[in-house]
Amino acid sequence: MSADYPSMTTAEIRSKFLNFFEERGLKLYPSSSLVPDDPSLLLANAGMNQFKEYYQGKKTMKEIGAISCQKCVRTNDIDCIGEDGRHLSFFEMLGDFSFGGVSKEQACAWAFELITKEFKLPLDRLYFTVFTEDDETHDVWRSLGVAEDHISRLGEDDNFWRAGPTGPCGPCSEIYYDQGPEFGCGSPDCAPGCDCDRFLEYWNCVFTQYDGQEDGTLVPLPKKNIDTGMGLERMAAIMQGVQSNYETDVLRSLVAVGERLAGVTYGEDAECDLALRIIADHSRSVTFMIADGILPGNEGRGYVLRRLLRRAIMKAQLIGIEGHFLNEYVDEIVRLMGDVYPEIVENRELERGLIMAEEDRFGATLRQGQAYLEEALGKLEGDVLSGEEAFTLHDTYGFPVEVT
Ligand code: ALA
Repeated sequence: MSADYPSMTTAEIRSKFLNFFEERGLKLYPSSSLVPDDPSLLLANAGMNQFKEYYQGKKTMKEIGAISCQKCVRTNDIDCIGEDGRHLSFFEMLGDFSFGGVSKEQACAWAFELITKEFKLPLDRLYFTVFTEDDETHDVWRSLGVAEDHISRLGEDDNFWRAGPTGPCGPCSEIYYDQGPEFGCGSPDCAPGCDCDRFLEYWNCVFTQYDGQEDGTLVPLPKKNIDTGMGLERMAAIMQGVQSNYETDVLRSLVAVGERLAGVTYGEDAECDLALRIIADHSRSVTFMIADGILPGNEGRGYVLRRLLRRAIMKAQLIGIEGHFLNEYVDEIVRLMGDVYPEIVENRELERGLIMAEEDRFGATLRQGQAYLEEALGKLEGDVLSGEEAFTLHDTYGFPVEVT
């Protein structure tokens, strides 16, 4: 299948989304910091985070709803990053949010109008999922013209969304784009929700109707709320007709930094491509996290930052990039994204300085750790390194387990 709609840059998609909802009376909010004003969350992981108190009815706004382009960091799927085309540790999420001012019917109708009329995506490539028992949303999609065989029902794992263990949550409905069988796993059961790259989930519409409590109970919220999130990089892959997020305009430019530094060409060697993708992804998380005041450390956010930095350094070594190199990525990220996120420009020297210090520190531990690892491997009987050795490498030498 080839794309049959006009191509758009990441910047054009961002503007189109935000303009569409601003014209309909929703108020534009800037992205919040990656450090949430919420002790239940380590890092901002969704557009709705900054609106939690509006969902809970503790705050109100005069507009019918809000929109944003939120910077997010998620590392729960860290092992998938780079392995497939759609998981990223840092991504931008476009979202529209409402706290009683917009109905489910309206929210779905706007999403449908935006993707079919503005982005001009063909209906035969679009698939919709709804929560198992959610007949209402099923009927809304049907009334908008979605065919019965393009709607499926999924359970809690896919179609019930929560930002964390507690807080506003609810059933959701996801919109998928069929990238074509050539992207798929070939299984006869392949369908929206499958782990392969064929059906790309790019927009999640959450009907936030509960406040999840510490003990697991779901307390109904005062209003019927809306929380939607469209993955900007995923939408860019669709609109640019490319196979993965890493081939879209912004991320491809970062992959190109690695190509230049390592003297390699993307697309020629699978291991090398994986490293190029991981460094491209992690470098954005690292830059934005430092710009928001996070320092590398051994726990909490600091550890997430250190882990991403060290993974990037290890991957760079594998493809022959040595010494200080991440600043080349910082410069490119500032060039590509600085107009939307001025904080990365303002904190550029801090980003550069902290990254170089960490590159030096990790370079030294890496040499010692590698000597330790080689000795341990030399003594190995069988082919499994003990948990104790992996722990020493982690605890004493700072090797993340997956690096070992
Ligand atoms: N908050 C929802 C999500 O992140 C939209 O998927």
